[in-house]
Amino acid sequence: MTEKQYGGQTGREGKTAVGNKKIAVEPKKVSLITKKKIVNESEQDSVPKASGRVGGEMISEKKSPKFSFEKANQIAHEVKIFAKSFIKKGMPLLEIAEKIEDKIFELGGKPAFPTNLSINEIAAHYTPSYDDKTLAEGLLKVDFGVQIDGWTSDNAFSLDLENSVENKKLIEAAEKALENATKIFNKEHSFGEVGKTIQEAISSYKFQPILNLSGHSITQYDLHSGFNVPNFNNNDNEKIKKGLFAIEPFSTNGAGKVQDGNSSGIYQFVFPKTPRSQTAREVLEYIAETFNTLPFCQRWIYKKFQARGLFALRELENNGNLHHFAQLVEVSKGKVAQAEKTIFVD
Ligand code: CO
Repeated sequence: MTEKQYGGQTGREGKTAVGNKKIAVEPKKVSLITKKKIVNESEQDSVPKASGRVGGEMISEKKSPKFSFEKANQIAHEVKIFAKSFIKKGMPLLEIAEKIEDKIFELGGKPAFPTNLSINEIAAHYTPSYDDKTLAEGLLKVDFGVQIDGWTSDNAFSLDLENSVENKKLIEAAEKALENATKIFNKEHSFGEVGKTIQEAISSYKFQPILNLSGHSITQYDLHSGFNVPNFNNNDNEKIKKGLFAIEPFSTNGAGKVQDGNSSGIYQFVFPKTPRSQTAREVLEYIAETFNTLPFCQRWIYKKFQARGLFALRELENNGNLHHFAQLVEVSKGKVAQAEKTIFVD
């Protein structure tokens, strides 16, 4: 998943900005809200436990952010190969999303957010609704995430389903930008230098990077934890730090900017306030327990609660509990390609 930049915001001071809303919920506090233990505190802290054997340190290592991320990343790698093998033109997006998400579970991970399947000028944040009839076509972006204990590997690739030379070039530009950015993504370089590298690679194909979409730092149960990885040279001299980062260049033959489109059906828990109806309370508790502060979608809620879940979602959105993401559409209806991977900087 990507993050849209609003105004002149760097994302740095607005650590908790999601769209134009503030996250009031700290990921680790969600358990207190529902009065249930969602994340076992003793499990997520990397304090070595006395295990009664010399291999005690093994336990803490297996609970470390790096260990969890690497496991999630390995699953993501396999899911990517699987998805590329079966996606064909004319396949329902609903079927594609469910196959990808089922595969993540099968391999021992959890989806970190709903699979984004965005076509042509929709750059990001399209996930099929529970009754979606849309078929795969055009330039399709497949953006999916795998999480283990809240540590996410965020990945995307694009497919040309039209045998179009221009689509293929757009994809190549995004892939090349990701490759070049990855090479210099270390503590020696600044975020601005990474953005410059991405911009230069995409420009060399005579396309534009999307300026108001960026990659992002990731922490536990927080997909956009404060640092932006720009897709152009924003002159940010701050050096890259230790941690998890998603790099995600977007290339377009359009103007190079996105704006909000239709509602996406993708939501995120942002604010704890008790809703009026019993159903909404039940759904909110399920959300906190199942997704913590990671994005989820209407389709997943429908699967669990059917129609009453959809009513509850509306109430929770009106009550301010949820942020509802908009689809992100290229302003001049240009076609958009995306490539993304997540890197652990040690
Ligand atoms: Co992302």
